[in-house]
Amino acid sequence: MGISGLQPWEILYILQEAEQWVELNRSGAAKHDDRLAGLTIINAFFENSTRTLLSFEIAGKRLGADVVNMHAAQSSVKKGETLIDTAVTLNAMRADAIVIRHGSSGAVQLISEKVDCPCLNAGDGSHEHPTQALLDALTIKRRKGRVEGLTVTICGDVLHSRVARSNIFCLKQLGAEVRVVAPPSLRPAALDRFGVEIFSSFDDALPGSDVVMMLRLQNERMNGDFIPSAREYYHLYGLDERRLALAKPDALVMHPGPMNRGVEIASSVADNTERSAITEQVEMGVAVRMAALDILTRTARSVEGWT
Ligand code: NCD
Repeated sequence: MGISGLQPWEILYILQEAEQWVELNRSGAAKHDDRLAGLTIINAFFENSTRTLLSFEIAGKRLGADVVNMHAAQSSVKKGETLIDTAVTLNAMRADAIVIRHGSSGAVQLISEKVDCPCLNAGDGSHEHPTQALLDALTIKRRKGRVEGLTVTICGDVLHSRVARSNIFCLKQLGAEVRVVAPPSLRPAALDRFGVEIFSSFDDALPGSDVVMMLRLQNERMNGDFIPSAREYYHLYGLDERRLALAKPDALVMHPGPMNRGVEIASSVADNTERSAITEQVEMGVAVRMAALDILTRTARSVEGWT
């Protein structure tokens, strides 16, 4: 249910498969491949999403699948239905794959144990967001030619970030050096066991960085005050042009979105397309999700003896 269970070759296989979809999407011929025709994919999103939901929907449709979206706000979840009952209901509809986003860590694992089809984790609580890490790795690989040997600095609210967690696993599996910068109040207790270099000062972490990955302050997951003020946070942990100049001259700027401009990143940095790969990350998201859906349903079909 995350990157943590994947071997480097499995990650590289998904990235390699995604490359063909980048090219196809760019050529405008994406609808010409309908290998998922006849399959039904349910996007069960119990948490808000723009990029991830849309890109999973587009990914499924580009490969010919019938894609149905379930938004928790309009579902029986709001009427008090338990997660297990919702899972059993989804299962009865006989989907070929279910893509799940949920606010609780472990919820996707729980649902996957109750349904017969493959499940894909689109973000569970502060646990993992595997397709985000894969699209980030694909973006880095395409821009820098490799991931191995690069120094990637991740800065921000690591405590609540499933993006940080999945990226740390993925980048380390692919041989990158990972630096993590976060205020002490936004660091997970076990961070020193993740095999990363931990910094309190952003300025100290930046020299030698090939990639600077910024994280959003996940206010919706915070109980109480974790930072004195957004202004002070920006002063210490925001990425502006002065700070970016401390990294390598060609350092790549990344952010999973949605961005809080002026809180974790300056607009002048985010919108500088020579340095920032933020929109490219969104583009890679569609390709990676096409690869993930294809591989997952292909595996399930071959297990069932369909192919
Ligand atoms: C991230 C998420 O939902 O975990 N966004 C995304 O999927 N693009 C990061 C965030 O919400 O800050």
